[in-house]
Amino acid sequence: MTTLEPERFRLEDTTVWSFPDRGVWVSHNPSYRGNWAPQVPRNLILRYSKPGDLVLDQMCGSGTTLIECKLTGRNAIGYDINPRSIELCKKNLNFTSDVKETSIQIHNGDARDLYNLSNNTVDLIATHPPYIDIIKYSNGEIYGDLSNINNIDNFCKEINAVASECFRVLKPSKYCGILIGDTRRRKYYIPLAYKVMQEFLNAGFKLKEDIIKCQWNCKSTPYWRTKITQYNFLLIMHEHLFVFEKPDG
Ligand SMILES: C[S@@+](CC[C@H](N)C(=O)[O-])C[C@H]1O[C@@H](n2cnc3c(N)ncnc32)[C@H](O)[C@@H]1O
Repeated sequence: MTTLEPERFRLEDTTVWSFPDRGVWVSHNPSYRGNWAPQVPRNLILRYSKPGDLVLDQMCGSGTTLIECKLTGRNAIGYDINPRSIELCKKNLNFTSDVKETSIQIHNGDARDLYNLSNNTVDLIATHPPYIDIIKYSNGEIYGDLSNINNIDNFCKEINAVASECFRVLKPSKYCGILIGDTRRRKYYIPLAYKVMQEFLNAGFKLKEDIIKCQWNCKSTPYWRTKITQYNFLLIMHEHLFVFEKPDG
């Protein structure tokens, strides 16, 4: 346990975000593979919600978003399909914050069916799905784990179900931030992020921002660097952080 606040933090004000140093405040640490830098949910939370609001992360992994909610005085509800992630979340949230106490709920559940959340109840969604099967969070034993899907169209179909649930539970005029990266299949670039964006538009959202997030400290980068010369391609070093708005009426 270190400090309760990032040492250097400023609210981002452009469409390019880059956090080469992800920081180590409270229980944040990079050991959960593919977890997002805490500066990402912190920016979303501070810009698009206010203290006392309810924030949802329905694929909460190690709990980065929920930790930031606890530190900034937002109520939060987190889900993850993997019971091991839920245990880790609980451990990571075991600290005392110095802001007014908030309610943080964590459930082992499926982002495609948030059965215990009513329509129009959430003030902000900040979430981060698997990038198809680039990092597998289980080995096929957990039914519904989206990181076990290999086919792009099948993945997008399930993301459409996630987007519909986001649309159902979010209050009108409120925002949904989602971070997603692209991939390659054989020789070709697959714009997975834009495909995911389209599913959110199909669900009824409007696109407010398309933020390029620079990628740092990716574990597989050294492996792919060895392949660049052999296959003559460029390393993918960015992700898209889409911010969607649920229209009012
Ligand atoms: C990229 S990780 C999220 C990491 C998180 N942002 C963090 O900082 O720790 C994606 C998460 O989605 C979860 N997941 C996969 N399929 C899911 C589903 N159908 N419903 C809920 N969670 C799911 C995985 O178990 C994994 O923890």
